[in-house]
Amino acid sequence: MASKMFYNLAVLSFIIISLVLLFQPYEAFGSSRAIFLTKNEENIEVRQPIGMCSAAVSTHGYKCQEYEVKTDDGYILSVQRIPEGRTGGGGSNRQPVLLQHGVMVDGMTWLLNSPEQSLAMILADNGYDVWISNIRGTRFSRRHVTYDPSNPEYWNWTWDDLVTHDLPSVIELVFRQTGQKIHYVGHSMGTLIALASFSEGKQVDKVKSAALLSPIAYLSHMNTVLGFLAAKAFVGEITTLFGLAEFNPKGEPVANFLKALCAAPGVDCYDLMTALTGKNCCLNASTVEIFLKNEPQSTSTKNLVHMAQTVRDGVLSKYDYGNANFNVEHYGETKPPVYDLSRIPRNLPLFLSYGGQDALSDVKDVAALLDSLKFHDIDKLHVQYIKEYAHADFIMGVTAKDIVYNQVMAFFRSQH
Ligand SMILES: *[C@@H]1O[C@H](CO)[C@@H](O)[C@H](O)[C@H]1NC(C)=O
Ligand SMILES: *[C@@H]1O[C@H](CO)[C@@H](O)[C@H](O)[C@H]1NC(C)=O
Repeated sequence: MASKMFYNLAVLSFIIISLVLLFQPYEAFGSSRAIFLTKNEENIEVRQPIGMCSAAVSTHGYKCQEYEVKTDDGYILSVQRIPEGRTGGGGSNRQPVLLQHGVMVDGMTWLLNSPEQSLAMILADNGYDVWISNIRGTRFSRRHVTYDPSNPEYWNWTWDDLVTHDLPSVIELVFRQTGQKIHYVGHSMGTLIALASFSEGKQVDKVKSAALLSPIAYLSHMNTVLGFLAAKAFVGEITTLFGLAEFNPKGEPVANFLKALCAAPGVDCYDLMTALTGKNCCLNASTVEIFLKNEPQSTSTKNLVHMAQTVRDGVLSKYDYGNANFNVEHYGETKPPVYDLSRIPRNLPLFLSYGGQDALSDVKDVAALLDSLKFHDIDKLHVQYIKEYAHADFIMGVTAKDIVYNQVMAFFRSQH
């Protein structure tokens, strides 16, 4: 009994690490404190370019601005803006693009390779006004008006709350600062929260189009050894072990899981990257090395439970409190409300790019997603399938500019 539970937990850690898409490559900028320059709107502050800007953007010769925005539930998020390319010029009315990272990583996701290979800098050099979001709980977004991250209450959220609070706040910031509708780019969980928002008719008035890389909505076919995550006991086990608090991959409990996992038969921790994200075709070995040496970002345990529910139930719905009474209390229904993706406005321009080797965004799950979009206006849905790509290729691949990003920009240009 105990060993079965332990094994399930080991597998759980595996899925969690599976969801880790990128690790922090930069260690030097941990605790720099912002200096406020101006307070130009109630919830928005423009800050000096320190933090991610100075660590990963300014060093390449780009202008970069740090913003922060407060969500309506009190989280203070950092947002970076690269307003123009290295050569400047191009006028003042640049088209804004917002980049939204996946789970257990942060906006650094978009800045890992060289400027010629990294999406954020490519977009800036192609005349876009680039905004980078960092969700609650990640390195630069760990403040709250009331709660400290050491307080479990700080971690009482799931991706539902990113849909309800973080995404609207960041989109509103970009919209108000630029006065323009936004092109959105999401990777992994960054696609999930956009799809869920659009399905509720949210943000569609401020988003001009959305490019979804490694799209994630349904998760039933994640083709890892995780089939038996479907075990109902699983969700109880994780919450028993961690409580509904911070899930810190750098912490000891998770480290112990990993040790146990790597000792399990059939798990090759020497090729963790492949085991976790699929057989990436096109990663730079030195980028991967940095990637694997560094540690991922925290998320909330509740968020992982919610994702596990999606794997288990095969339905995309809000967080299940696990008991009819609690669900009634929160939703007025015994079951959590479903996100009906077929309700995404049919004229919203969408670009989906998915890979044949992706262990997280499985081809069958993408097929289910596409099926829910089958009545989308045909000229508003662009789908790209890249046979040799896996999950990390979309953000770190050395060929991603030619294969993916150029198509994303062509798609943006085609939307007026
Ligand atoms: C977490 O937030 C929910 C509302 O989303 C609330 O009902 C619940 O009491 C909170 N849990 C804790 C432990 O405070
Ligand atoms: C891989 O990364 C290293 C270090 O950043 C860089 O010097 C090299 O040019 C990269 N290789 C490719 C193929 O992009």
